[in-house]
Amino acid sequence: MGLLVLVTGGAGFVGSHTLVELLEAGHRVVVVDNCCNSARGQEAGQLPPALARVCTITGKTITAFHMVSLLDRDALAQVFAQHKIDVVIHFAALKAVGESVEKPLAYYSNNVTGTLTLLEVMNEAGVKRLVYSSSATVYGVPQYLPTDEQHPTGVGITNPYGHTKHICEQILRDLAATDKEWRVVLLRYFNPVGAHESGMIGEDPKGTPNNLLPYIAQVAVGKLDELLVYGGDYNTPDGTGVRDYIHVMDLASGHVAALDKLNSEDFQGAVAYNLGTGAGVSVLEMITAFTRASQKKIPYRVVGRREGDVATMVGSCVLAQQQLGWRASRDLHQMCVDAWCWQSQNPDGYA
Ligand code: WQD
Repeated sequence: MGLLVLVTGGAGFVGSHTLVELLEAGHRVVVVDNCCNSARGQEAGQLPPALARVCTITGKTITAFHMVSLLDRDALAQVFAQHKIDVVIHFAALKAVGESVEKPLAYYSNNVTGTLTLLEVMNEAGVKRLVYSSSATVYGVPQYLPTDEQHPTGVGITNPYGHTKHICEQILRDLAATDKEWRVVLLRYFNPVGAHESGMIGEDPKGTPNNLLPYIAQVAVGKLDELLVYGGDYNTPDGTGVRDYIHVMDLASGHVAALDKLNSEDFQGAVAYNLGTGAGVSVLEMITAFTRASQKKIPYRVVGRREGDVATMVGSCVLAQQQLGWRASRDLHQMCVDAWCWQSQNPDGYA
């Protein structure tokens, strides 16, 4: 019968792909999403398009969808009153680094107050198992590479978004330390990219993409003219920024593995795991890989560095392999093939 999993932010990029893996693993899902950052259903009562397509991909149904903000405590309490939730996976958050610099209060309200409200409602409902969508951003400027889970966190974070992730991790650690019934897994994502192989769901950023791969994909499909490469003078093999890109379906399977760990006899407290590949890819290497996958030219121009960027961010994922029995399996070519399949089939996203 599987677990009944409440997924906040389930209509979003990582959330929708994780729903596919959860349903295919035999779990049932209740989705809470305010659709501030994802397409909503055309008619009242209609599922957001990403969720409808998750049902088509899996041939399963979503137990319930509630278009609710985590800041609406009463509505959230109602959701827990309606469903006997076993565990929560918490994706819902604003996640644009640049936007967080312009709107810090919106980020603290949505990401921190929203998480606090969720935890209070969970506590009252007696639901004390949580997988939290964290980010490698909590490592700040890497002091060593690849960064493992022992790397200091909270030092050198350059933006409010990263601070909100670090603060929420601290809240969860303190909660699990004071109430032994709480079980928490903190998943630190590196750079999620790609799409489900069907091309039916994928990354659908609002407006001009902040992140590299959706930007490249929109250049390839003709929506944008050229890619600006932020910095060609970093201390990296080709001078451009290096990141640990991970296929979103690998990331999704990491969440299912985290659920199994959370419910195992020996689990206790709050434990962090990196979800990445351990391999670094530069901007120019990504352009080459996407060109090969899409057979499209990607015009680009190297310009100045972007404020707040680090030269290299690559994760060690040995702990997830050892303790979750999980590792990423899809390579860079597959990431680009699947991202292109989604973009070319859906030039305007879910619109
Ligand atoms: C990757 C590389 C850029 C765009 C951010 C968040 C992180 C996570 C993932 C939420 C860098 C370069 C990018 C462009 C470019 N988000 N680039 N031209 O900054 O590593 O991570 O997104 O969890 O928390 O910090 O990802 O894709 O923006 O940048 O040259 O138009 O591509 O300089 O080297 P980033 P990114």
